[in-house]
Amino acid sequence: MQIEAPPLTAVETCGAQIKLADGRWLIDGISSWWTACHGYNHEAIIDAMHKQLDDMPHIMFGGLTHEPALQLAWRLTRILPGNGTPNALQHIFFSDSGSVAIEVALKMAVQYWHNKGAPTRTRFVAFQHAYHGDTSGAMSVCDPDEGMHALFKGAIPEQIIIELPETADQLAAFDQLLTGGHKEIAGVILEPLVQGAGGMKFHSPETLSAIAECCARNDVLFIADEIATGFGRTGTMFACEQASVVPDIMCIGKALTGGTIGMAATAANEKIFSAFLSDDDKAAFMHGPTYMANPLAAAAANASLDLFEDGERLEQVERIEGALREQLEPCRNIPGIEDVRVLGAIGVVEMAEARDIDWLRQRFAEENVWVRPFGDIVYLMPPFIVGANEMTALTGAVVKIMNEWSKRTG
Ligand SMILES: Cc1ncc(COP(=O)(O)O)c(C=O)c1O
Repeated sequence: MQIEAPPLTAVETCGAQIKLADGRWLIDGISSWWTACHGYNHEAIIDAMHKQLDDMPHIMFGGLTHEPALQLAWRLTRILPGNGTPNALQHIFFSDSGSVAIEVALKMAVQYWHNKGAPTRTRFVAFQHAYHGDTSGAMSVCDPDEGMHALFKGAIPEQIIIELPETADQLAAFDQLLTGGHKEIAGVILEPLVQGAGGMKFHSPETLSAIAECCARNDVLFIADEIATGFGRTGTMFACEQASVVPDIMCIGKALTGGTIGMAATAANEKIFSAFLSDDDKAAFMHGPTYMANPLAAAAANASLDLFEDGERLEQVERIEGALREQLEPCRNIPGIEDVRVLGAIGVVEMAEARDIDWLRQRFAEENVWVRPFGDIVYLMPPFIVGANEMTALTGAVVKIMNEWSKRTG
């Protein structure tokens, strides 16, 4: 707090814009940490939440259930990868944040093996540049250096963190690791196609499917963290679809409620679910976040799914992808820019060196856009309803300011 620039005070949101206390409106380039996919204050979501607020804002989810959560669980099972196949993700566990959804996935994987009589299978393979959240278990599967958690080495479980296997040799080594480690490895966890907060790194659908196949071949659980990539961000409803991958366990969150209120979920296939179904209560999955399946959040999520149903959102993502590709291209020629990459509604400009981040953040706000670089990355992940002019303003600001940055830092 001693060195960070004071935060700007937000007082109102509308569409793709944020109003500040000083009266300025900023065009939002990052959708409130990638949540506000329909833009802010969408009438349909607000109405659904108002109604739910009047009826029942919250009720505990132990011994009681309710229609908004039942409906949401059922609807999610219809759209998650693998629907209609034996591996479908038919079982949903609700929680209140992405990190908790990851904790649930990790616990589920460990207990799955315990229930199957393999209690030594407790470790996870994760990848450099991974980011899965800030709670202890989630931290343990983040990149130990990039993931903001280096300080906690020794205080969190030690997992097997390797370079993402992309070449044939790397994939062969990965296969060997899983074969050799089958007595201790419970699962592999990956953010499919885009590793987000660990550096906005992209990998191909081929890499994703090769990793998933390797897990299946070695009887290791594959956990997909679609908390950032889910709900259209990469161009399909879920990134796994682009590789025809159906994970054993999948985590979703962020845009689940259309950017209105915290909620996340961990989905599992029948193989996982059936390992917990027993007359022995010790086999049960014991995890109960107080606000799990909060009805207000479930109502928001159901309204958000309605908005996805007509398919317009994915068309908007396609248009954003085209605009990002064309309009960020000039950044490629700016000295000091290492890479420009785009997938779906994600545009990334990577600097050769992380420099002047505070200055960059300030300059973006001065240009009336809300863009928040981190590390060596400047990125845009706008709400899908962003207007063409707003989009041009966002990309124009990135090109202009990166040019200034380049001259400033030489
Ligand atoms: C891929 C991924 N997983 C997990 C999380 C953690 O989610 P939350 O911040 O809701 O705990 C994030 C947050 O940025 C994320 O990007």
